[in-house]
Amino acid sequence: MRNRFIVLAAAMFAAIVGAFGQSGPGDIIPTPVKYTVSDALTRLPEAGDIDIVIGKKSFFSRIKRFNLEPWQVKSAYYLELTPEGMRVEAADQEGVFYAFQSAYMMNFISPQIHCCQILDYPRFRHRGMMLDVSRNFQPVEFVKRQLDMMALLKMNKFHFHLVDHPGWRIQIDKYPLLTSFSAWRTKDDWQDWINDGQRFLSQDDPGAQGGFYSKKDIAEILAYASERHIEVIPEIEMPGHNFESIAAYPFLSCLDPEGKEHLKNVQELCPGNEQVYDFLENVLSEVFEMFPSKYIHIGGDEAGKGNWEKCPVCQAKMKAEGLENVEQLQSYLVKRMEKFVNDHGKTIIGWDEILEGGLAPNATVMSWRGTEGGHKAIAEGHDVIFSPTQCYYLDYQQASDQYRAVGPLQPLRQTYSFEPIDENIAPENVHHVLGVQGNLWTEFVNQWWHAEMMLYPRLFAVAETGWSPRMEKDYSRFRTRAVALNKVLDYLGYNHFPLGAEEKDGN
Ligand code: ACM
Ligand code: ZN
Repeated sequence: MRNRFIVLAAAMFAAIVGAFGQSGPGDIIPTPVKYTVSDALTRLPEAGDIDIVIGKKSFFSRIKRFNLEPWQVKSAYYLELTPEGMRVEAADQEGVFYAFQSAYMMNFISPQIHCCQILDYPRFRHRGMMLDVSRNFQPVEFVKRQLDMMALLKMNKFHFHLVDHPGWRIQIDKYPLLTSFSAWRTKDDWQDWINDGQRFLSQDDPGAQGGFYSKKDIAEILAYASERHIEVIPEIEMPGHNFESIAAYPFLSCLDPEGKEHLKNVQELCPGNEQVYDFLENVLSEVFEMFPSKYIHIGGDEAGKGNWEKCPVCQAKMKAEGLENVEQLQSYLVKRMEKFVNDHGKTIIGWDEILEGGLAPNATVMSWRGTEGGHKAIAEGHDVIFSPTQCYYLDYQQASDQYRAVGPLQPLRQTYSFEPIDENIAPENVHHVLGVQGNLWTEFVNQWWHAEMMLYPRLFAVAETGWSPRMEKDYSRFRTRAVALNKVLDYLGYNHFPLGAEEKDGN
């Protein structure tokens, strides 16, 4: 492992021409916890002059005064750059990895680096990015590119939104139609497909557009992420957003009020039907085999419950289980699926709608409709990840004239402004805040360059809030660093939003 880091480092250091004249720890994102800089300039050394020390007493003495949690210790690092070489100290390979990310980023900005010492560790344990590959499918190479950038930003959770209304994107052997049918559309672009009547095609049909990840693709993505200390969290949506699975397997939807036929062109699974639980358990069993993650995201958002009120199977289930309303019926499904997930040694994450009708006992809540759901869940003793629409929905506009973005306006300043810990969270409950996450939904994002324009530089802001100390946050300093990092993205061939274009809106 040690040799691998060194080889990787040497290759990357050599390859890059810097974007600016000089660099140092004050230029990187996320900003480090502590650093000192001298006037002397140096360059990153050749492999032989890099000294890596893991798990030694000297490092533990350096970090002792910070009273770090074990997960912070794992990620912490000390980096020293002198004219003679580079020294990295850490408790774990993860810390070494992050030290190298800091070194890479300084070198990307300019290979003329100020001699420095950095002592650094993360503020939160969940520093996430969500990518929706259902609305618009993205190839494995695209996913890997974003994992590279996440790693450089010291982000560690990739939430993979794999299934949703406009396309199922993961191979499930037991239900082959999910990928031979529900992954292929008449139109490549989501909006065109909606306008064209939302029709799926068989994979072999002429003009079929779309794609899915085979089990081999998933293994490749997972290996790539793991080398970058990123956990991939798959999302399997239930009980809403299931138009595509119902299109393939109509038995999954509710019955009409007469109890004769399954409803067509609907989004919601039938929580009254035992076959739905079999389906979900079978799908999840294959997902467990593919993904080693502690967490499985089960969606839970935006399920319309009107059909459940009329479906005789749902009504019978509510009666049998003593459920008073359809919110409790959703909660019944979530709790039952949580038990299944827990029995396999994993934990569920759900969007904040899973609070309605009663929260499943061990669930982690992803607070997206603002922060209220998160605060409520924390007060009930649950862990929470904040990804509120008003700051962390990266499909929103960065400037008022931005190409194909949904409103409202969400410029970089606003993304940067989010603070997950406020007076609504009692000090003794702060540990329930796992962290933050930026979400890229892709209804209007069909091209790689467009997706990257939505992600960057706003993901820099999510990364800094996730890693850096609260008191070190400063928008004007951050924006200067974001401009420099955008230049690095240019060198690396990524697209990004052109900073400056948001100023005409007063941002
Ligand atoms: C969501 O945006 N429906 C989680
Ligand atoms: Zn039903």
